[in-house]
Amino acid sequence: MLTSIKTNEFAGSESKKLAMMYFRVAIILFGAQLLMGLIAAIQFLAPNFLFEVFDFNVARMVHINALVVWMLYAMIGSVYYLLPDETGVETVGIGLGKLAFWVLTAAVTVVVLVFIFIQVGPGKESTIWLINEGREYIEAPRWADIGIVVVVLIFYWNVFATFMKGRKTGILTVLVADLLALAGLYLAGMFFTDNISMDQYWWWWVIHLWVEATWEVFVGALAAYGLVKIINAKREIVEMWLWIEVLMLFGSGILGLGHHYFWIGTPEYWWEIGALFSALEPVPLVAMFVHVLYDWGKEQGMAKAEGKPGNVVKNGPAMAWIVTNAFGNFLGAGIWGFFHTLPQVNIYTHGTQFTAAHGHLAFFGAYATILVGMMYLGVQGAYGVERMKSTFKSKMAIVLITFGVVGMTIALTIAGYEQVLVERAELGAGWDAFFVAQNLPWYVQAQIWRTIMGVITFIGFVYLVWDLLTIGKEAKAAQAA
Ligand code: HEM
Ligand code: HEM
Ligand SMILES: [Fe+2]
Repeated sequence: MLTSIKTNEFAGSESKKLAMMYFRVAIILFGAQLLMGLIAAIQFLAPNFLFEVFDFNVARMVHINALVVWMLYAMIGSVYYLLPDETGVETVGIGLGKLAFWVLTAAVTVVVLVFIFIQVGPGKESTIWLINEGREYIEAPRWADIGIVVVVLIFYWNVFATFMKGRKTGILTVLVADLLALAGLYLAGMFFTDNISMDQYWWWWVIHLWVEATWEVFVGALAAYGLVKIINAKREIVEMWLWIEVLMLFGSGILGLGHHYFWIGTPEYWWEIGALFSALEPVPLVAMFVHVLYDWGKEQGMAKAEGKPGNVVKNGPAMAWIVTNAFGNFLGAGIWGFFHTLPQVNIYTHGTQFTAAHGHLAFFGAYATILVGMMYLGVQGAYGVERMKSTFKSKMAIVLITFGVVGMTIALTIAGYEQVLVERAELGAGWDAFFVAQNLPWYVQAQIWRTIMGVITFIGFVYLVWDLLTIGKEAKAAQAA
């Protein structure tokens, strides 16, 4: 039975090279995402900034669509990266996989250029097909949707065929099943109806059932793989945790969907269903948190008992990002999610900066962190080094980015709090109330702090790119010495 994973067995594999292609595009889109966020943040403070040149709605749209797309790229990259390690064979269909990569990348480029050049215009049937579908987070027009489905089918076929050919580990079994659900859900966001309640009803299937069910299972599998690979965690233990997490995530995440059905015209029974199941969602997140820290501590303890100098972490930065993931997922999704998930609370917080605070910490904590960790594993594989220690740049990157995002979250939470008290509770949530609340000092200062923290995040990102470009070479030189 496969227990540990050799660092270098598949170092030069085609699958891992393909993974690196996905990681490179992912990091470029991550950078674009942050720049768009900075533009949108400045527009909160100076509404005339780039007005009618690059409007807030466009900056915001590119910000969050780039977010989703870079994460999907990094997820596909992660799968191509771990596939040979887990199956013990080279990935099937690499040629087709590369073709799919180029098709997808060309499509993404065209979609973004259209977003940027065609910012206003009529909303006709052809708009949905050619320009913009108008569904937050997944705004790509329908031609691109269809292209994405084809590309994902190719990807899935490669993964499935490789899985059938090689070893079938628990981690992979979970991953293969989860990917099918993840890809299938995308279809729910492709149909158009002019009833806005129905449209939103299905749209949430993509967004919520991705981030609170299928993506969470996905990162659970990545964390399990990462722990086996980096600290030699016992496979029986990480896989046992993984199965428990899968059970709990699907248990709470699917009906937790109800917390988006409180106020969109769906039947009122969703209040009870949404309240109960979404309130349970933090439970599996605690399990994931304990899982990472427990395994880490256990390995450390075992090493000590054997009189070794301590735990050998084969990839310092990747491990640091996985641990940050355990904390970030729990805080951003679990705690900040729970804050506003009961209908009695959500009636006041719905759509305020409170939601944005949760959105930032959850996406960052649960997904950005572990995907960056996978990129570090990718670099280690590309240079074929046994051990990659954190550098000064690695530390600057993780500290500045995490500090920046947590700072943004706190600032937005304060802005949201002010909106709840002034706009909602005191002034009754009308149109005027919205503007009154936006102009009061607590709100304005919070937006200033968010922008400052955004700049810090961006500086951290520069360190991250610099580190990813240099750490492999440095580790190789250190190994040779
Ligand atoms: C990693 C997992 C998660 C991510 C990435 C995430 C992200 C988000 C984002 C981006 C939104 C805003 C959607 C919009 O534009 O309208 C949102 C809304 C919401 N999330 Fe999460 N979330 C996660 C997990 C959770 C969990 C576990 C809970 C509850 C315990 C939760 C509760 C909510 C609620 C109640 C809303 C609606 C806010 C409103 O009414 O304005 N989320 N989430
Ligand atoms: C340079 C750093 C960043 C800045 C300045 C920034 C700024 C912004 C701004 C101004 C918005 C629009 C908010 C609104 O409509 O009220 C936004 C939305 C959003 N950003 Fe960022 N952002 C940054 C980084 C990130 C990161 C790292 C993530 C996640 C990994 C992220 C995820 C999101 C999400 C999910 C939304 C939609 C939230 C919602 O609708 O509730 N952002 N961001
Ligand atoms: Fe949700």
